[in-house]
Amino acid sequence: MTEHLSQKIFPTTQLEDADGEGHNSSINPTMGEIIGKRFSRRNFLQGSLAVSAIAATVSPVALMTAEKARAAGVSAFSFSEIEAGVDANHHVAEGYSADVLLRWGDAIFADSPAFDPTRQTAAAQVRQFGYNNDYVGYIPLEGSAEHGLLVVNHEYTNPHLMFPGLVTIADGKIKQGPLSKEHVDIEMAAHGGTIVEIRKVDGKWRVVPEGRYNRRITSATEMQLTGPVAGNDRVKTSADPTGTRVIGTLNNCAGGVTPWGTYIMAEENFHGYFSGELPAGHKEAANYKRYGVPEGGYEWANFYDRYDLAKEPNEPNRFGWIVEVDAMDPASTPKKRTALGRTKHEGAESIIAENGKVVFYLGDDERFDYVYKFVTDGTYNADDRAANLNLLDAGTLYVAKFEEDGSMQWLPLVHGQGPLTAENGFASQADVLIETRRAGDLLGATKMDRPEDVQPNGVNGKVYVMLTNNTRRKAEQVDAANPRAENAFGHIIEITEDGGDFTATSGKWEVLLKCGDPSVAAVGATFSTETTKNGWFGMPDNCAVDSAGRLWVATDGNNNKATGRTDGLWAVDTEGDARATSKLFFRVPVGAEMCGPLFTPDDETAFVAVQHPGDGGDDWEGHGRPSYYEDLSTRWPDFKDDMPVRPAVLAITKIGGGKIAV
Ligand code: FEO
Ligand code: CA
Ligand code: CA
Ligand code: CA
Repeated sequence: MTEHLSQKIFPTTQLEDADGEGHNSSINPTMGEIIGKRFSRRNFLQGSLAVSAIAATVSPVALMTAEKARAAGVSAFSFSEIEAGVDANHHVAEGYSADVLLRWGDAIFADSPAFDPTRQTAAAQVRQFGYNNDYVGYIPLEGSAEHGLLVVNHEYTNPHLMFPGLVTIADGKIKQGPLSKEHVDIEMAAHGGTIVEIRKVDGKWRVVPEGRYNRRITSATEMQLTGPVAGNDRVKTSADPTGTRVIGTLNNCAGGVTPWGTYIMAEENFHGYFSGELPAGHKEAANYKRYGVPEGGYEWANFYDRYDLAKEPNEPNRFGWIVEVDAMDPASTPKKRTALGRTKHEGAESIIAENGKVVFYLGDDERFDYVYKFVTDGTYNADDRAANLNLLDAGTLYVAKFEEDGSMQWLPLVHGQGPLTAENGFASQADVLIETRRAGDLLGATKMDRPEDVQPNGVNGKVYVMLTNNTRRKAEQVDAANPRAENAFGHIIEITEDGGDFTATSGKWEVLLKCGDPSVAAVGATFSTETTKNGWFGMPDNCAVDSAGRLWVATDGNNNKATGRTDGLWAVDTEGDARATSKLFFRVPVGAEMCGPLFTPDDETAFVAVQHPGDGGDDWEGHGRPSYYEDLSTRWPDFKDDMPVRPAVLAITKIGGGKIAV
């Protein structure tokens, strides 16, 4: 969610500042004292130390690729960059086609009712594609790159864009009327996820509504709590005295697909759905404060007691988890895997380490919060899918500490170790996981500038951390890993795990890129000089690595006058002399954010998710006033007078076929 837009439109009623109020008041050092004198980290890592690190981590094939790029000194991406800008439509590089595959309201089943925005019902919505598509994953069927399951998260809802008759304008600002129970039920049905079979026919992707795996998951779907927190007193409610059965999932942002082909949905800004006050002196008060609960942006508590803290004080402890869905079994109960901790999870991208353990990288998207990884106890078994299905219930969760000298440590969040003891209020591992953030505080983790996607790259052995921005970091709070005060445009960190081992508990890191307009010296952006005026971006959020190991970055928050551009998908070189060169491949319509992105295994399709299109447009000369159902800044993607703007997933392919950007 774009923070400045949500603030502008819903100053009091919607998720204000959803992606990062900053609830970390711990006194961890920000390393502010120890920087300033050191030499450039990039030069440091290009020295001898870096050479040995690279040699140890990179496969011979990857080394060849890197060497080739280095020798040539040119971008690894071949396409003609598009022009940055703002208008009502999307744009893709010449020679490519960006086709709408799934829009809000589209049929997911053979019997799905047709989408009628003026007569929408919850019963229809639960059979249709949900709102605000975010994470996009692809699970091949029979190993095919042209036939598989598309899994898509639906992060949140925008009532002012979805429902007619809800908005009045006062003093040039949107005022939203109260939601009815049917509105709320539609919102709940528009949240969650979609699993749908898709197939490429004659070069074009099609949805298969008859697909036997097709499924909608919503905020009313029953889920199971598994792992160390299951059954703990702190997750018991009047509706669930066992502390193991939760109704629904909330604010599913990014996610992942595991090596064993399950679908991961990360619960991010769950705090916004809760209202009401805890009973006086309640033992969860400090815990909830650390997570910003309640925020009260949604009106669900008016109709469902479980979102009211006064009535169900333990309910918020049942959200903020990583959810795993067995997409191959439509009757399966999604599992909230508590071993991976409770944060405002951005996503959970994974990789199989050399020793067979599986490593998940996790960002906690809030100002001054942390980067995590989870290493399974068990090992991946390629020949026995069933044997992998509960790997996420046992393992070690680590939080990152980035040192000033370019080294880093992964600190284990294990009950009984270090400060994570009963003396500090952790009676068990369940307490450590329910209060993951406080455990990280006590371990001295590094406070980051809003960690979004954290992406391992199996080709070059690195891990990329998207840090979207943090305008509240003061000059005295800067540190080596978060080097800019009032960081409006974010940056990207590249991690190299020691010994090339993704399970390592230490590593090296450097800043790949400080984002923003490099032509404005005060911004301090560090794109390569080959980057054009179209090629720079701010606010890195989601990212993908294609099968050649190339990095693609999607952004959230460029939509304003200052940047002169919408969000989009940028190709970012990481190797050789072209390192930190960025090129604009695709951009979204006005008001939207770029989510996904995801490449099929053959690199011939890039799926991108256009989230909250038309949410804004005040700053754009083509509209210049608030955007809402009756007066939209764009009617993308249908451009029909009787159809509102609709979030959608697009499939980008090369015209005539072939790998993207090759
Ligand atoms: Fe939902 Fe952190 O973006
Ligand atoms: Ca974001
Ligand atoms: Ca988002
Ligand atoms: Ca995101």
